[in-house]
Amino acid sequence: MVSEAKVDTRYRLSESLAWSLAEAYGTPLYVIDEGHFRQTIRRYQAAFRAVWPNCELSYASKANSTLAVLAIAHNEGCVIDVASEGELRAALAAGVPASHCHLHGNNKSKAEIEFALEAGIATIVIDNFDEISNLKSRTADLKSSSTCFVLRLAPGVDPITHHKISTGQADTKFGFNIADGAAERAVQRCMESKLPLIGFHCHVGSQLLDPEAQQVGGELIAKFAVDMKKAHGLETTYLNVGGGLGVKYLDEHEPMPVEDYCRLIADSVRSAFSGTGLDPVLGQEPGRALIAESGVTLYRVGAIKEVPSPTKGTRIYHSVDGGLADNPRPALYGSKYAVERVWSKNGFKEEEFETVTVSGRHCETDTLFEDVSLPTDLNSGDLLQVLCTGAYNSAMASNYNRYRRPPTAMIRANGSHELVQRSETWDEMFERELLPKDLKA
Ligand code: LLP
Repeated sequence: MVSEAKVDTRYRLSESLAWSLAEAYGTPLYVIDEGHFRQTIRRYQAAFRAVWPNCELSYASKANSTLAVLAIAHNEGCVIDVASEGELRAALAAGVPASHCHLHGNNKSKAEIEFALEAGIATIVIDNFDEISNLKSRTADLKSSSTCFVLRLAPGVDPITHHKISTGQADTKFGFNIADGAAERAVQRCMESKLPLIGFHCHVGSQLLDPEAQQVGGELIAKFAVDMKKAHGLETTYLNVGGGLGVKYLDEHEPMPVEDYCRLIADSVRSAFSGTGLDPVLGQEPGRALIAESGVTLYRVGAIKEVPSPTKGTRIYHSVDGGLADNPRPALYGSKYAVERVWSKNGFKEEEFETVTVSGRHCETDTLFEDVSLPTDLNSGDLLQVLCTGAYNSAMASNYNRYRRPPTAMIRANGSHELVQRSETWDEMFERELLPKDLKA
């Protein structure tokens, strides 16, 4: 049997475009391809609709809340999932009405909830009893609002992923535990308080290459919805199984095709609802699976150093002009990426490769990419493109070591390019400082 050739769905820049962008905007540079992002959303939507016509696809804006990205997601019909007042403000600034946003958060402040309600948020995903009490005191004004409420549940499933991005297990700060009765008590409290509760939500984890936890999580919250109908007469009209579908960071990663993934999720939820009279809108809210593969980061190689290594004999370090501050994921989660050399403008291609370590420029051991294979003739001034950096890179960037965060260029659907987020200026870097007069030299 001939095995099916796997398609690499990741966006990558052509050599000439990479050099043009580096010349136009400098490095490090985040790049997002608009066409790729739109296609990814459309494919997800089609896959989801095919298995659950009454569905709702949200974009988890924490993955990348650049305004242009939010505007495109909205334009493609996604609801925007926001997890803070800042993310809601970003959505509003991008032209997304609050009535197309869901608000998450495990410790929403009263001011945050107030802001969201005033703006007319579509849904607030309630995480804890304190939030219910806070909302209960406002049920009078909630009557005239169009905002609905959903309970975030902890279904007690432990996905196979990095422990720092696993959230569905029982021991988690997120949501109401189903098994210990907290979730049912939360339903009762909401019903007693006459909060317009429409359904349930779970998000079991992120970068899931194995869908099992997501399937089980979806099935458990669907069963819980059925139990709540039987026990309390609650008619669930909305069920959201979160995000989490993994992406192809490395060549060997094989994320499940979204068509198969949506079918599995829909089947597990459908089986729980069968014969119960419940037929809710089914929601998913991926972030990474929609935007990660549409982005690359360009770095320029600087210092190259060969040092003695007790394990390898020698190690070659290529330092690039970015690092921990623009991509903290290797340091936080041990994340690995595919790094490619952008061939020199003269087109000369050296075929010999060696294993090197790409490190950043911060005063840390900020190894970005350990033991990657790069051409032996890589020189200072050459460009590297790192694939699959559209999610959780610019969104998690910092000014550590007082570096300015890189700008983002967007390749527009017509092939042109423009900056959609610039770097900060040096003045902006120091704008927040309030140096006491007597300390000024
Ligand atoms: N919905 C909720 C409630 C979430 O907490 C998250 C992610 C998502 C949706 C979207 O998950 P995604 O489809 O992107 O996997 N900074 C980490 C990821 C943290 C994700 C937190 N929540 C990283 O860089 O891997």
